[in-house]
Amino acid sequence: MVVEIKKIGVIGSGQMGSGIAHVCALSGFDVSLSDLSMDRIESGLASINGNLARQVQKGQITEEERSAALGRLSMAQDLDLLADVDLVIESAVENEQVKRKIFAQLCPILKPEAMLATNTSSISITRLAATTDRPERFIGIHFMNPVPLMELVELVRGIATEDETFEAAKGFVKTVGKTVAVAEDFPAFMVNRILLPMINEAIYTLYEGVGSVESIDTAMRLGANHPMGPLQLADFIGLDTCLSIMQVLYEGLADTKYRPCPLLVKYVEAGWLGRKTHRGFYDYRGDEPVPTR
Ligand SMILES: NC(=O)c1ccc[n+]([C@@H]2O[C@H](COP(=O)([O-])OP(=O)(O)OC[C@H]3O[C@@H](n4cnc5c(N)ncnc54)[C@H](O)[C@@H]3O)[C@@H](O)[C@H]2O)c1
Repeated sequence: MVVEIKKIGVIGSGQMGSGIAHVCALSGFDVSLSDLSMDRIESGLASINGNLARQVQKGQITEEERSAALGRLSMAQDLDLLADVDLVIESAVENEQVKRKIFAQLCPILKPEAMLATNTSSISITRLAATTDRPERFIGIHFMNPVPLMELVELVRGIATEDETFEAAKGFVKTVGKTVAVAEDFPAFMVNRILLPMINEAIYTLYEGVGSVESIDTAMRLGANHPMGPLQLADFIGLDTCLSIMQVLYEGLADTKYRPCPLLVKYVEAGWLGRKTHRGFYDYRGDEPVPTR
């Protein structure tokens, strides 16, 4: 019993939630965007507006497409406003307790046939699904950052995810113009299982004084042909998200090779979370990013 997806609820209007809402609205879905406060939803909508305008400037979409997409977006501070959606994509902070609480509150409100997806970067889909009333209609739909630009979506089935749910999610990803890579439900799936230990190792390299922020990023850009350095990328992802993913890998795989670098912990404790707080391995408050170490 899987419904045709017409209306989508997105929970969390941060960098990922707003990006997901953006591509869904542009692909013709009605989208209701939710977060903890109206301020946060409005800031998510403001960034969607700015990013759509940039796409118009670059000739990627027309002005009509931009205004049609904006017309399909609505704000839902109250989860009750998601009662009529066919699919929810949860994209709140990478914290299992927060996600569980959201699902507990959300499930009684949703239509029984509605699908529930999470954009988690690392947390077990099976475990999250088990906390809901619909593990067979629960799936991981893991978008990449920035959502409007990045082509890949990892699809992750929980142990109970039904074939219909998987097929509907696959169809949805195709409709929003992305390419699917199917991952098994193991900590951090594929992309972050490979990417985050590399970023964590770059932070150890900094912590042990092997190189400065600038030299480590330059080394990996010019020496490994990466489009951005690993510390710049960590700031872009969000250092809180990087730390949460390393903790999931460390606990989930019980291997010390995934131990989060103490310097990463220190930055998160300082509230220096990267670009979103204007300070991380770089300070973004001036005209140009300045390394903080
Ligand atoms: N940053 C990345 O590169 C990236 C990439 C892929 C997936 N993800 C995943 O996407 C999710 C969101 O990450 P992000 O980078 O957008 O983080 P973010 O910090 O930019 O945004 C998180 C948003 O969640 C909101 N939130 C917190 N608690 C909430 C609650 N109880 N109800 C509703 N909203 C709540 C916050 O107010 C904030 O607006 C995480 O699960 C993360 O792992 C992140």
